[in-house]
Amino acid sequence: MNVRDRRVQYETAGLDRDDLDESPVQQWHAWYVDALDAGLPEPNAMAVSTVDDDGVPDTRIVLARGVDDDGITFFGNYESAKGRQLDSHPFASAVFPWVALHRQVRVRGTVEVLSRFESDAYFASRPRESQIGAWASPQSTVISDRSELGDSVARYTSEFEGREVPRPPHWGGWLLTPLSYEFWQGRPSRLHDRFRYRADVDGAWVIERLAP
Ligand SMILES: Cc1cc2nc3c(=O)[nH]c(=O)nc-3n(C[C@H](O)[C@H](O)[C@H](O)COP(=O)(O)O)c2cc1C
Repeated sequence: MNVRDRRVQYETAGLDRDDLDESPVQQWHAWYVDALDAGLPEPNAMAVSTVDDDGVPDTRIVLARGVDDDGITFFGNYESAKGRQLDSHPFASAVFPWVALHRQVRVRGTVEVLSRFESDAYFASRPRESQIGAWASPQSTVISDRSELGDSVARYTSEFEGREVPRPPHWGGWLLTPLSYEFWQGRPSRLHDRFRYRADVDGAWVIERLAP
């Protein structure tokens, strides 16, 4: 298939400074509602990039589980590649790829581990099978075959039979605190609209239009 010559004109309505909420969080929620209304699959999925000890970026999709004035929360295994990378380099960038709407939202910021109370609360809300999966899967390590995973699930299923599955110490959440957000709206002839919210020293958001 020819990828080089594939071109789509982005005929969507533009984005003006006056359209934007003063809060990037409120602006994100307005676009999230548009993504939901448009029926986009997994509209809370974001690609998160971290860096390893050699400075090489690593990117994967995770699900955002909260977006508010404190930041963006997501969950996973602290001993995974991303967990280790965030331990050593507590920064990340993320993108919500709402491509069907000719939109993306980019975020850059610092990352910290969520409090154990918040991780416990979210873990308790997950389906039991996912809770057991968090114990059974040594995420990002090499395994010999699928049966190793199945055996591990069976072992933890029987270990926790008849009682609540506790949160594994190696599993929990992170909080990405954005230093900047960028809202991108595709426009015809690649003259797209881009607005960046940048955290100012006093904590206020400075909104600037960027060249496409
Ligand atoms: C739609 C989608 C949602 C995902 N959500 C999560 C998530 O919330 N947390 C997570 O740890 N991995 C999630 N993953 C799997 C990650 O992309 C990745 O495989 C995993 O976190 C291991 O990445 P790492 O080796 O870089 O740590 C998701 C993948 C997809 C495609």
